[in-house]
Amino acid sequence: MGNPSGRYAIVGVGTSRFGKLQGVSAMGFTLEASANAMADAGIARDAVDGVLVMMPAVMGEQHGWAARVADLGGGFGIRHHPDEDAPDAVELAATAAATARKAFVAAGLPEPAVWLEPGRCLVGRAGVTLYRVGAVKRLPDRTWVAIDGGMSDNPRPQLYDARYTAWSAARADESPDEAVSVAGMHCESGDVLIDDVFLPSPRRGDLLAVPATGAYTLAMSSNYNGVGRPAAALVGGGEARLIRRRETTDDLLRLET
Ligand SMILES: Cc1ncc(COP(=O)(O)O)c(C=O)c1O
Repeated sequence: MGNPSGRYAIVGVGTSRFGKLQGVSAMGFTLEASANAMADAGIARDAVDGVLVMMPAVMGEQHGWAARVADLGGGFGIRHHPDEDAPDAVELAATAAATARKAFVAAGLPEPAVWLEPGRCLVGRAGVTLYRVGAVKRLPDRTWVAIDGGMSDNPRPQLYDARYTAWSAARADESPDEAVSVAGMHCESGDVLIDDVFLPSPRRGDLLAVPATGAYTLAMSSNYNGVGRPAAALVGGGEARLIRRRETTDDLLRLET
């Protein structure tokens, strides 16, 4: 689910208002359900069905307006964590298009063009972030693994409780026998990338691979606490190519006068 703690705003549910602007001809409506809101297949279908069934009737009966475009936006979720659900975006799009057509026809309106704006479901799974393990601290109640990144390269856990999993990149064939928490390097108590993950007993120097970071990760990165952004490499067909170099201290100081 995109909003597990329920702490984040959900806007525009239940009531809708339409206004008329002089000289503006509205061609359609858009459903803005980003931030992985449609990570859960059930919620996604309810949201799409709800809007598509409600909108044509409200538009036609109350406003005499027929949208030519029903834009369902983005927000089609991906799984960042094994416990998460995610709809099949292609199946969801086909269902939504059919629902839209039916709802418009039932409201006596012409069929609209159905548009989609998928983002993360296209590129999210293509990205993997690699971290080097520094200290491993074994306390009575939990083992902490400190990495050379965290909230400056991926602020999503702090922003909205996003959950991730990790693999021990060079030891993926070993059995994951130790429950650990993964902490970042930014000197903040909230800089926890992963609360709980099982890894083969971690040690200093291990490489951790965090999957499904191809969307909203590097793009949301920052120089928090003066940490440089990491490099990015494109990997395919057994080849790797640097497509973005690692930031240096000179990069961090370039705006100083
Ligand atoms: C207007 C609009 N469309 C589409 C998207 C893509 O959303 P997603 O990557 O969740 O599919 C966004 C993301 O913020 C957006 O703002």
